[in-house]
Amino acid sequence: MSYKHFINPVETVKRIMTYTIKEGQIAIDCTVGNGNDTLFLASLVGENGRVYGFDIQNQAIDIAREKLSKAGFAKRVILIKDGHENIDKYIFDKVDFIVYNLGYLPSGDKSIKTTTFTTLKSLKKSLALLKSSGLLLITCYIGHEGGQEEKEAVEDLLISLNQKEYNVLQFNFINQKHNPPILYGVEKL
Ligand SMILES: C[S@@+](CC[C@H](N)C(=O)[O-])C[C@H]1O[C@@H](n2cnc3c(N)ncnc32)[C@H](O)[C@@H]1O
Repeated sequence: MSYKHFINPVETVKRIMTYTIKEGQIAIDCTVGNGNDTLFLASLVGENGRVYGFDIQNQAIDIAREKLSKAGFAKRVILIKDGHENIDKYIFDKVDFIVYNLGYLPSGDKSIKTTTFTTLKSLKKSLALLKSSGLLLITCYIGHEGGQEEKEAVEDLLISLNQKEYNVLQFNFINQKHNPPILYGVEKL
């Protein structure tokens, strides 16, 4: 897909990260995967910041660890091999930024993917962890089995948030074929 002025959700996430995340902040990547978002977050929070990364697959954690250590960012990132639905077992302080990129690891076993149940459990906990002015971004994919149901559950939860506590935006192309991803952004007031 080519764009002239618009950008796709992956690039939108990067741009939002770039202009919102400041040195010294705390960020969480709830789906580490190939470690691309984790690495980018680590570059933005600087050496005094902290990034936590969750994934249930050794493969993802290993790939990310390697990328982070090559970039010299290993000390500022804590990689956790556990489901993001257990986020409250590891993180107790409020955080500035949380990102989810749902679905499966493109280069890995496509049967290992996020699920509606665990995503919702995690999202509820994550929303409670956001600092005032903190942001949460979540990209949903609907082309795989279970993806549409997961996206609808995420949207139902986000639509129900009190507008006095959160602002919620949806970014998506509405005339594209082949199930383009849908990005939701949540800002805690
Ligand atoms: C689309 S990939 C993430 C891609 C990643 N953002 C990147 O930059 O490469 C989704 C990841 O979510 C992971 N995942 C699935 N269920 C999970 C869960 N309950 N908790 C944490 N990660 C999970 C998968 O193992 C997979 O690596």
